[in-house]
Amino acid sequence: CEKQDVRPIRQRLLVVANRLPVSAVRRGEDSWSLEISAGGLVSALLGVKEFEARWIGWAGVNVPDEIGQKALTKALAEKRCIPVFLDEEIVHQYYNGYCNNILWPLFHYLGLPQEDRLATTRSFQSQFAAYKKANKMFAAVVNKHYEEGDVVWCHDYHLMFLPKCLKEHNSTMKVGWFLHTPFPSSEIHRTLPSRSELLHSVLAADLVGFHTYDYARHFVSACTRILGLEGTPEGVEDQGRLTRVAAFPIGIDSDRFIRALELPQVQEHIKELKERFAGRKVMLGVDRLDMIKGIPQKILAFEKFLEENPAWRDKVVLLQIAVPTRTDVPEYQKLTSQVHEIVGRINGRFGTLTAVPIHHLDRSLDFHALCALYAVTDVALVTSLRDGMNLVSYEFVACQDAKKGVLILSEFAGAAQSLGAGAILVNPWNITEVANAIGQALDMKPDEREKRHKHNFDHVTTHTAQEWAETFVSELNDTVVEAEIRTRDAKPPFP
Ligand code: G6P
Repeated sequence: CEKQDVRPIRQRLLVVANRLPVSAVRRGEDSWSLEISAGGLVSALLGVKEFEARWIGWAGVNVPDEIGQKALTKALAEKRCIPVFLDEEIVHQYYNGYCNNILWPLFHYLGLPQEDRLATTRSFQSQFAAYKKANKMFAAVVNKHYEEGDVVWCHDYHLMFLPKCLKEHNSTMKVGWFLHTPFPSSEIHRTLPSRSELLHSVLAADLVGFHTYDYARHFVSACTRILGLEGTPEGVEDQGRLTRVAAFPIGIDSDRFIRALELPQVQEHIKELKERFAGRKVMLGVDRLDMIKGIPQKILAFEKFLEENPAWRDKVVLLQIAVPTRTDVPEYQKLTSQVHEIVGRINGRFGTLTAVPIHHLDRSLDFHALCALYAVTDVALVTSLRDGMNLVSYEFVACQDAKKGVLILSEFAGAAQSLGAGAILVNPWNITEVANAIGQALDMKPDEREKRHKHNFDHVTTHTAQEWAETFVSELNDTVVEAEIRTRDAKPPFP
């Protein structure tokens, strides 16, 4: 008799994020070329064997015509991606506006926009309306593709309204939500005009995850203080229904970085870089060009170090890779000019005819060039003013098993909780402290470097992205979906 295929059918995981993990370029009326961007989330989910992931999100391009939309949908289907089409106006109000001009700075403790109050109120209202509208558009696509038994995992601050939209449509759907940024203290969240509505919407999920225990605690406090709900060790109770809240620290696919270092093209890059910077210690910063990354403060600290340590001036170089991002948001445009101005001034001040102390690049590097750069670095500077986790610190550590360089790490990055013992922790706002940390790192003895590196390397190679995704999804799968929501006469202390 014929042998039957007894492999279990893999459960489907619908991953919903603002951005699909592809970059799409239109080649003709009905043709597109797609490139998968192998970020943390993609490699994490490729590693989850029990689930078959499908992605739902915005392709990052405006496609106003039906022919283009159909062709892109077809091309994306081959990559298991499903697009949500957002028009230019929605992108402007939802993505540039509410997400990146309001929620992003607020969640990173940079406050709400400081325009004149009336203008802020008006734009706030229209941007929040667009945010809700965009979240409903995402929900419509999820609902269209959802099949019974699927698990739905929503990601990040762009989609805080989504769990509620999904549950209202289908209360038995299993929905998780994970925040990739910090969740700020409840006193900061309290300033947000839509504070209660967003919290209630997130609470509609069955499992809510954060990178650190502190962010989870801030979220629970916001729910108890702003909504008057009950916090329990498991999460938040709302009208008799429990939403599980917990910390799930993300990691990287460390093997991918370690393996890349063996490749001939990476070895070639390493050789070139070593020749190029022979006789000088290499310091490295890799950041998106974003206010939260503290790039101006970092460069000013480097300037202070050069100022106070003339002997180091021709023996050290700072390579700063600043990847442009959200370039339509005015705050980001201002930051670009500010960074250029500071770099120019310092290079003018300390440069010579043949060398400059800072090499600043306004662009991303390909994966292999980046691995080579990590590998030749003596000191990495990760000095974010606030950062959900910061995986650059993890990537650097993964590529340093030969060199055992030093990591200077902001105490306000989530990664400080896992790599703190191996790094030199700094307050990025304190330029003198960062300048001193640079000196300490450059002078650190090999046995001390080795001890610190080992701590971090062990962590990075054992707490991987795959493990993170598996833990979240299996916990989500284990939650009991309470379809029935009982009503209660609770009066929130802050309406
Ligand atoms: C952060 C966010 C992500 C976002 C990424 C890039 O890491 O948490 O959700 O995708 O920045 O930002 P962008 O606005 O270009 O998608």
